[in-house]
Amino acid sequence: MIAIASDHAGYALKQTIIEHLTAQGIQIADLGCGGEPVDYPVYAEKLCRAVAAGEYERGILVCGTGIGMSIAANKMPGIRAALCGDCFSAAMSRAHNDANVLCLGGRVVGSELAKMIVDTYLTTGFSNGESHIRRIGMLKELEK
Ligand code: RB5
Repeated sequence: MIAIASDHAGYALKQTIIEHLTAQGIQIADLGCGGEPVDYPVYAEKLCRAVAAGEYERGILVCGTGIGMSIAANKMPGIRAALCGDCFSAAMSRAHNDANVLCLGGRVVGSELAKMIVDTYLTTGFSNGESHIRRIGMLKELEK
């Protein structure tokens, strides 16, 4: 199961993604917001805590640029968040970085590109390459 959250600037794209994934039969939990003005770190924390606790396999965060959400998410232990504006980055974020959170900029990417980025992110697996496993281990060390 996937979780998604946004601030007000990412709300419209969040709704588009929910509709897109639901139409594919993918279960997605909406952790807010409801479109009202909010502070993005609150929603980044909420989603990342749930992903890190194993409540959701992966998460998607949307704010205006995706930058605030990605900065906040990457401060959370156990989270590897990738801000992606293209499908190649989305694929690599999974294959090389085993990213468990995808960040998107609702004011940056159009809805059709965002849907392709999300589909790519959700369907690409981790490469399991030895060097990538080692580097992810090094990221975990940096958290300490
Ligand atoms: C909100 O206006 C905007 O600053 C926020 O959505 C995000 O882009 C921050 O990084």
